[in-house]
Amino acid sequence: MIVSGSNSQLLAAALADETGRELATATYDRFPDGEQLAAVPEFAGEEAVVVSTTASDAAWVELLQLQDAVREAGAADVTTVIPYMGYARQDQAFREGQPISARAMARAVSTGTDRVVLVNPHEPAVADFYDVPVTAVDAAATLAEPLPDLDAPLFLAPDAGAVGIAETVRDAHGEGDTDYFEKHRDRETGAVEISPSDAPVEGRDVVVVDDIVATGSTMSEAIDVLRERGAARVFAACVHPVLVANATTKLRAAGVDRLIGTDTVERGCSVVSAAAAVAAELTVESDD
Ligand code: R5P
Repeated sequence: MIVSGSNSQLLAAALADETGRELATATYDRFPDGEQLAAVPEFAGEEAVVVSTTASDAAWVELLQLQDAVREAGAADVTTVIPYMGYARQDQAFREGQPISARAMARAVSTGTDRVVLVNPHEPAVADFYDVPVTAVDAAATLAEPLPDLDAPLFLAPDAGAVGIAETVRDAHGEGDTDYFEKHRDRETGAVEISPSDAPVEGRDVVVVDDIVATGSTMSEAIDVLRERGAARVFAACVHPVLVANATTKLRAAGVDRLIGTDTVERGCSVVSAAAAVAAELTVESDD
């Protein structure tokens, strides 16, 4: 049975369709003191797939509660699908006295599951923080599906770390060049500075591809540069549209033509699904 967190409803339903599993109707309540209570009143069976994105602290709590709830309801085998792993960017202690937050989260999740499936974790190495087997799946190719025909396309990573997924989207689209910008982020202020490459962009359609758009600073800085240099249409594509605060309006102000994201974080731009990539890691339930 598939059990969804409150923020992974679309992806969980798509996964149920892809794998033939039943979808449980979980409930999500909050006590007057703010404490959460996620439950699975309709759980049946011995196998549970808990699907819950972790783009907020509340979502982490909900995930831990759902893992515990399915065990209480009789699940002997639990798979935890984390469509977007929050805290994955805190994969090291950057200063003395800081935690390795990604490890802390991974250890907590490991106590309630037999295995974990991650979708495009920010750093593949975070998989090592879990105490149970982890599979990381790549949903980036699906970002190419909504793209129209492109004129002399360039698939651009806004920093060196995103080159791999820019290539994946280019390959799925079928043609185009790839390039990347260099990025520097001030750790105190969060401000992003882009050092553009000299890739010719004038008159070309450009697709900027990143794993995450959070504050939108990285993407909007890259779009600014592309607009200044005379790019034709500019598309922004990301696996995880976290889109905090004014990220969407920043991208619009920078001149993006369209923002495309997956449903690992469910937003208005989540027009493609990571379900097929995740389903490939789950065994298909038979009808008999
Ligand atoms: C960083 O290495 C990531 O790939 C993204 O570029 C970053 O997380 C985006 O964050 P923001 O939208 O806040 O600039």
